[in-house]
Amino acid sequence: MSNFKPPFENQVVLITGAASGFGKILAEKLSAQGAKLVLGDINVTGVQEVANSLGDHCIALGCDVTKEADVKALSDAAIETFGRLDIAVNNAGSSSHMKSLLEVTEEELDFNFNVNAKSVFFGIKHQVPHMIKQGGGCILNVASMAGIKGAAYLTGYVAAKHAVVGITRTAALEFATHNIRINAVCPFFSPTPLVTKGIKPEYIERAVKGNPMKRLGSPDEMVNAMLSIIAPDNTYLTGQAIAVDGGVSA
Ligand SMILES: NC(=O)c1ccc[n+]([C@@H]2O[C@H](COP(=O)([O-])OP(=O)(O)OC[C@H]3O[C@@H](n4cnc5c(N)ncnc54)[C@H](O)[C@@H]3O)[C@@H](O)[C@H]2O)c1
Repeated sequence: MSNFKPPFENQVVLITGAASGFGKILAEKLSAQGAKLVLGDINVTGVQEVANSLGDHCIALGCDVTKEADVKALSDAAIETFGRLDIAVNNAGSSSHMKSLLEVTEEELDFNFNVNAKSVFFGIKHQVPHMIKQGGGCILNVASMAGIKGAAYLTGYVAAKHAVVGITRTAALEFATHNIRINAVCPFFSPTPLVTKGIKPEYIERAVKGNPMKRLGSPDEMVNAMLSIIAPDNTYLTGQAIAVDGGVSA
């Protein structure tokens, strides 16, 4: 008889932005491997539907990641419900409309920083103390290729995702001795609602032409890469911004 255990069995995993796209697929894949899930999203109905579809080992909370109290409440819910927090994936993010830097308003810049960068800062700030108490943990921040390269007409998003990489590297250094691994994943374009609704098709076509694989990565491929970064036996990987990009950054 095989002694194989799925790597995420009984791991308590928190995911923000779990009502759609990468976050939803990640929740489904982790649930199939026996993880216990704490799901948050500003789309309360959507995230509740995801949790209901997965089962009793998942809880869902309305959570606006731009609000520190909401982000704290999500981490606290992991402890109250499951007694610990093994892995946190700070995935929720968004972008204002594409436009020239010269036309970007202060409000749009703030929107990008609040939803993409401050959210990750709040996440780490309230996830790490629980992980220190329990002797370790793992945090994955969803940045973007826009966190390591420029992207014309996406100034606010690019700046905020670069901030995510900076916060990730710094936090990894601060908490390495507490056995807490902190990494960022940097996906190339992938057809989730964020991209299919928010990015002009001609922009995507140009991006595909410049990609060594001549195609986008599927949401499934992106999530598989995330699973490998957070896998509990991936114990020496920390402080990295890992591109999942079909070779664009090679
Ligand atoms: N799809 C891509 O091509 C791509 C590429 C690089 C990085 N990313 C990043 O991946 C992450 C997930 O995006 P996705 O592509 O799955 O998009 P998506 O739009 O399908 O999902 C994003 C989720 O985040 C939630 N969300 C938005 N604002 C929120 C807030 N203030 N508080 C809580 N939840 C909020 C949305 O309701 C949604 O459920 C984002 O951080 C995005 O920037 C996506």
